[in-house]
Amino acid sequence: MAKPAPSDAIVFFGMTGDLAHKKIFPALYNMAKRGELHVPVVGVASSPWNIEQLRDRARDAIEQHGGGVDDEKAFGHLAEMLDYVSGDYKDIETFKTLGERLRSSQRPAFYFAVPPSLFPVVTENLGKANCAKNGRVIVEKPFGRDLASAKSLNDALHSVFPESAIFRIDHYLGKEAIQNLLYFRFANSFLEPIWNRNYVRQVQITLAEDFGVDGRGRFYEEVGALRDVVQNHLLQTVALLAMEPPVGPESEDLRDAKEKVFGAMRGLTRADLVRGQFDGYRDEEGVANDSDVETYAAVRVFVDSWRWAGVPWYIRAGKNLPVTCTEVRVELHRPPQRVFAQYEELPRDTNYFRFRLNPEVQIALEARVKKPGESFMGQPIELAFTEHHPDEMTAYERLIGDALDGENLLFAREDGVEEAWRVVDDVLVNHDRAYPYKPHTWGPAQAEGLVKDPDGWHDPRV
Ligand code: BG6
Repeated sequence: MAKPAPSDAIVFFGMTGDLAHKKIFPALYNMAKRGELHVPVVGVASSPWNIEQLRDRARDAIEQHGGGVDDEKAFGHLAEMLDYVSGDYKDIETFKTLGERLRSSQRPAFYFAVPPSLFPVVTENLGKANCAKNGRVIVEKPFGRDLASAKSLNDALHSVFPESAIFRIDHYLGKEAIQNLLYFRFANSFLEPIWNRNYVRQVQITLAEDFGVDGRGRFYEEVGALRDVVQNHLLQTVALLAMEPPVGPESEDLRDAKEKVFGAMRGLTRADLVRGQFDGYRDEEGVANDSDVETYAAVRVFVDSWRWAGVPWYIRAGKNLPVTCTEVRVELHRPPQRVFAQYEELPRDTNYFRFRLNPEVQIALEARVKKPGESFMGQPIELAFTEHHPDEMTAYERLIGDALDGENLLFAREDGVEEAWRVVDDVLVNHDRAYPYKPHTWGPAQAEGLVKDPDGWHDPRV
């Protein structure tokens, strides 16, 4: 298939906001350092700033969130490429001014780093001001708040941009570890015969963070853990683990295979979910004093496909847990007979694959081997691979670069996003109250009842 033409400018709506400060400026600076920033960067926001203020903001962002400015030449290049348009997103004049600034661009990319409620008006005005021709749009999560709002956002975007021009960011898909997971699955042949219900007993995925909502109480009140990380990052991870091999090498073949998994996921019911809220959450700024928003969610998902029928996928995510770590554990069935039963207890642990996605990249396989000595006593060992990449690209760097190149593999597609909302849609409203839990514990005790295995949840620290 012919390679899509690269974008020749990038416009950021919301350039004075939090996301740009934390993620976008550091990513652009790293691209400049690698000699990969070739297009003008136009910031748009309502703050009445001049270009010098935006450059100062960029430097501050890199100092605070990008490890500091250690290459003045690269920073100078980024500063040179920057431009700024100040104006109201609801005012067509803002977009006319933007159109003039983009005069020399044939194929601009528009990055919506603004709340989803502004997507429709920004899209409409881009269309009206004739800015959208040959354009791409890059949109941030959360993509809607439920199935109905995701559908209407998709309709709004499609009124101006075709699906092939829409790049929905889920920054988990830009992580090195997630890509390695995909690579590990489909670049090795030993996995395929056992990667199914016949060999896999259960899958557990934990996204634990040892910090709270970090001043984002107001944002969190609107989302909660289910919308913040389960519907997107974690269901995307399930899809990559559960997908069938793609039928061809094109990115669309891979996306076809991945998006199909969401369609096979069973809709969650009240009994599949335990929500929790850490003690002290209600004292955060912007949080209601009777808030029932969850800072912890544990769910049991089933993928009703031939490959995965009957295998439970246990997912939990929470703020203020004992550690910051994201880990997947794919546990295999226990051996069918206890050949060495007279010597030892049946081991609690079975063989498993372990994928550490954060903070480092790890892939491990657990096996049992005999302990040296007279009797047949065993011990578990892990065959593990760990990767510490000091120069690893950040997810945002990779995703911005890919979107500019028109490479859509690492972006969520309309059908998958809507199906993922369908999976959680009912329990967004039909759920038990959030149970309280103490900070730096593993969430409410009720979550233990969700896992049918006698060993319960796996502690990624062990
Ligand atoms: C974001 C959520 O999408 O992902 C945050 O909004 C969460 O609440 C973060 O902390 C986790 O991603 P990472 O890359 O920091 O592990």
